[in-house]
Amino acid sequence: MTSTEHATPERHSGEATLVATLDDLAENSLRMVTVDGRRVCLVRSGSGIHAIDNACPHQGYGLTQGALDGDVVTCEWHNWKFRVTDGACLVGEEAVQTHLVDVDDRGGVSVTINRPAPETLIPQLLASLRRAIERDYIGQVARDVVRLLKAGATPAELMWEAVAYGAPRSEYGWGHTIASATDCLAMVALYEGDQRALPIVQGIAGIAETERGRQPRELPDPASGVSVSMSAFGDAVEDERLSDAQAILLGAIERGDCAKQLTPWFTSIVSNHHLSYGHGAIYSQKAFELLEMIGWERSATVLPHLVTTLVYGTREDKLPYMRPFMKELAGVDLDQLASYECDPSWADDGTLLAAILGNDRRAPVAATVAAVRGGAGIDGVLDVVVQAVSERMLRYDVEGEFEFEDDFGWLGITHGLTYAHAARWHHHQAVDAGVGTTPEAVRLALFTTFLGQWTGRHEWHTKVGDRAEVAPIASDLETFGNELQRQAQLDGTTAFIVHAHAVKTSRAAALEALRSGSSLPLDATAHFMAAPKLERFVAATVVRSIEFLNGRTQRD
Ligand code: FES
Repeated sequence: MTSTEHATPERHSGEATLVATLDDLAENSLRMVTVDGRRVCLVRSGSGIHAIDNACPHQGYGLTQGALDGDVVTCEWHNWKFRVTDGACLVGEEAVQTHLVDVDDRGGVSVTINRPAPETLIPQLLASLRRAIERDYIGQVARDVVRLLKAGATPAELMWEAVAYGAPRSEYGWGHTIASATDCLAMVALYEGDQRALPIVQGIAGIAETERGRQPRELPDPASGVSVSMSAFGDAVEDERLSDAQAILLGAIERGDCAKQLTPWFTSIVSNHHLSYGHGAIYSQKAFELLEMIGWERSATVLPHLVTTLVYGTREDKLPYMRPFMKELAGVDLDQLASYECDPSWADDGTLLAAILGNDRRAPVAATVAAVRGGAGIDGVLDVVVQAVSERMLRYDVEGEFEFEDDFGWLGITHGLTYAHAARWHHHQAVDAGVGTTPEAVRLALFTTFLGQWTGRHEWHTKVGDRAEVAPIASDLETFGNELQRQAQLDGTTAFIVHAHAVKTSRAAALEALRSGSSLPLDATAHFMAAPKLERFVAATVVRSIEFLNGRTQRD
């Protein structure tokens, strides 16, 4: 526990209430009184008479049960210490509210409850929330979020405080922190009243615990003129010229480009490569979803720090393990494929599903091309990918999770679902903008078929074809999906990275299940969330380090 001082601001209002006489109050004593229905701890110390809330800000225990030493009262439950003159917290996280004391000529002691005016309350609480985020004081975050919701603050403005803190501090660009906060913010709709605090605080907590202590990263000045274009942006990202890419993007935002204009910039760069196992496409989706909720005026904070992630992301398609797939992909005319009409009656005859679930890394390309030519459209292809990756998740043998020599596990497998969901989002942005199916959408969909196929690598220790037993399936998909998302908000995991995967997978599964009318993505996610998972990676890292330093190389 560390020391912090931030006394509550004084703003007295209401009626003075006579609560005691000086004769009632022994030197160095604490006494509880009630004023306007509020329990107040009246303090007589060497410096005079003081009044503070009797509820300790930590967990609400009565401060009159604590100990007074000079002007410091200690809550004996967990040893937080408060200065009674101004409420400052000397050990612990949060100041205690003070109230006005008046002693009249006859020794009558009156207390006036300090109630901040409504117009000043929210700014004060937001300042307190910012301090709590900076220090990763989750208790104070939770209390301030509940107070702010009660005061009328919106969930979006509360989450913005964490995003504004975390995005610039992320070491190599933001990732699961802001992405998970986005999903958490969307999940607020599943809660009512004070309960809305749960997803908000989960989102904030992920950012606070990850970025604590880091310095904000500088951004370049916005570029201007003809250099501000989608192609210049794409070239800068491709060449890993981070500052140039950020300057171009900031220039576009400054000249007034909106989400609809800039979404294709991101779709283009996240479909150029199979980027970081699909994270590039997922994070870009989340960035624009977040801005839709917190306001486009925040884009100059959210988007440039995502560019860092995309510039430094792993271009998986350049790695040996993707070579067979990329050779096949090189022979595909993406423009032509994008031009095929979609046939609403198209249904996979099992060929595409078998290619994704099979053992041939090249097979998904030909099967996808045939499907698109047959009228599948991007949505039809992605429907099959979602089915395939859900099957993968359902038959994952969790024994393999704890075999350290293989670094592939649950978190990798769930990407199949969230990547397909993100690819659908990117496709629909272009469709909704009137552009229709783009070569970028085709390429991204093809990458999702690859990932769906590749995640079968875990099945070397699984009896392929077995399907894990799952809990009984709810007949109401919306109820099932909402419940899974609420489960993801509970502390069922210890590591933030695993929590973030539960959050994003449950949300993607809920939306994909509603689209397809199948519970399969939900079954798969329920299996993932209920199954044992590797959450700390220390032992696994040690095992692999020993292997590496003894000359063994990673399998591809
Ligand atoms: S309740 Fe007071 S320190 Fe915990």
